[in-house]
Amino acid sequence: MCGIVGYIGARAAAPIVLDGLRHLEYRGYDSAGLAVLDRAGELQVRREVGKLANLSRLVDEAPVEGQIAIGHTRWATHGPPTQLNAHPHVSGGGLLAVVQNGIVENYHALRERLIGEGYVFTSDTDTEVIAHLVHLYYQNGSQGDLVDATRRALSDLRGPSAVVVVCRDHPDKLVAARLGNAGGVAVGYGEGEMLIASDIPALAPHTRRIAYLDDQQMAVLTANGADYFTLDGQPLVKDASLLEWDADAVDRGEFRHFMQKEIFEQGRSLTDTLRGRLDFVGGQVRLDSLNLSAEQARTLEKVTIVACGTSYYAGLVGKFLIERLARLPVEVDYASEFRYRQPIVNPQQLVLAITQSGETVDTLAALDEARRCGARTAAIVNATGSQAARLCDGIIAMQAGPEIGVASTKAFTASVVDLCLFALYMAQARGAVDETARRELLDALVRLPGQVGELLAEARQGDHYARLAARFGEFSNFLYLGRGIHYPIALEGALKLKEISYIHAEGYPAGEMKHGPIALIDGQTPTLVIAPRDSIYEKMVSQVEQVRARGGAVLAVAHAEDAQMRQLADAILPIPVTHELLTPVLSVIPLQILAYEVALHRGADVDQPRNLAKSVTVE
Ligand code: M6R
Repeated sequence: MCGIVGYIGARAAAPIVLDGLRHLEYRGYDSAGLAVLDRAGELQVRREVGKLANLSRLVDEAPVEGQIAIGHTRWATHGPPTQLNAHPHVSGGGLLAVVQNGIVENYHALRERLIGEGYVFTSDTDTEVIAHLVHLYYQNGSQGDLVDATRRALSDLRGPSAVVVVCRDHPDKLVAARLGNAGGVAVGYGEGEMLIASDIPALAPHTRRIAYLDDQQMAVLTANGADYFTLDGQPLVKDASLLEWDADAVDRGEFRHFMQKEIFEQGRSLTDTLRGRLDFVGGQVRLDSLNLSAEQARTLEKVTIVACGTSYYAGLVGKFLIERLARLPVEVDYASEFRYRQPIVNPQQLVLAITQSGETVDTLAALDEARRCGARTAAIVNATGSQAARLCDGIIAMQAGPEIGVASTKAFTASVVDLCLFALYMAQARGAVDETARRELLDALVRLPGQVGELLAEARQGDHYARLAARFGEFSNFLYLGRGIHYPIALEGALKLKEISYIHAEGYPAGEMKHGPIALIDGQTPTLVIAPRDSIYEKMVSQVEQVRARGGAVLAVAHAEDAQMRQLADAILPIPVTHELLTPVLSVIPLQILAYEVALHRGADVDQPRNLAKSVTVE
């Protein structure tokens, strides 16, 4: 949560930092601020409550000129979103300013200590202790050495933190550090300028050369480059890598919202996900970066999937795929629960994380736990420069391109396709699936991006979804039902509706209805069923009958030509026919579009839903 940006170079810093914050607003949007070292050598701070537009207005009214600046967009943890709690936080009467992403777990004790030293606190935040600590050491012990003062201050902190410090006495440098799983810290190399940010979208418009800070590492940026150190002062060598995304990928283009753009990109993103991984001649799947030999795959006894939110639901689909194709037992765990239940993990297991951002704190902690227990680790990850990607033994890159909408869409479908490739890879190594079955699935995989494209093109042409939103968008409760491999899709569809339209929606395994939730059904609670014509279709038909018998409206995700379901349901969300194991990739898309249209109908803020942030980097 929270986005941080820093700039040092020859250009005007404030507009660059504001633009960087705009690209990071998905990480937090309850207040924002920046500090610019102006031409007179003074630190000018501007902070404002609410969306970034409010800060931009403030900067327009009271401009600040300078070539070095830091900025922050906040997702409140300590203290409500007020101007005084917004970052940057200053110390020493405007001598230095700090932005932070993370949590200072021992901030009460540090605050007491600093009050004892005579510091006066002006905010409720934990970040202010960092500013005063750096100042304390800067005056006593570090003798004006900003890097040393920052290092000493950070050594006193407990909990994950990413910080950037700017100081009036040092107009030629920015000091940054990362402690623990504090969300990303990426350093961007420009021509005669350097940038730093929590995530790539803030850097992509300026440079494609990026280096990343790991846990316990510091960077000192000047206009001409960066020096890296460990937190205990040992110099480090880091090479910048070349970003695969171009600057256009982080803009909305012709679309009204990032979520809309990302939904409609899914045909392209799945093509990229499959590219280079299917060998048609041999009928084999290649996953080189997974770094798992056929021999290792054969000896594995179990796969444990760890993930949060939408990625967790992708993991539930993965369980079906891996168990069905590779005949290998799979456990799926909420990453946020995994390490707290003393999981049974051993070196014969693969712990597979699914994470779009690669920076979700619980998922990183689950991977740490897995490593501690000696398990092999891998990640299906979109951000290939992220902590998860760098720390695992192997990765499968989603290739979805940057996902900026807070509600995850294209990362879900890319994860499911990657899980299918993983399942096929394990199956071929373990000799678990026969040639004909494998060929059928490979052929269906190849056709899948085209079918996604057709589904999306059709959805975009008419106003079917807008009409559904107008008809059903005023209800307060929804039930989503699915069975088997479609149950996770019910969960994901319900999550999408909750997240962006604030309607209470519950995903349920359809067969469990009679064990309780059926009591909820009446004319005020529409039920959405996922009912493609597959082996459990007839069971879903009975389910629909039971809902209708109790006066409930039914929306059905069904095959376009399913005349029976068209008759039974109040509305159809049509999908094409594909291999049964790939149907989730198609059936989730109408649910994404429905949630999007309902949110529009209700006037909700689709890309910045209340209380949420894209990357959950605090517990
Ligand atoms: O970046 P990750 O995949 O690790 O994120 C996991 C969840 O925080 C994320 O999927 C969240 O649930 C989304 N807001 C869902 O739309």
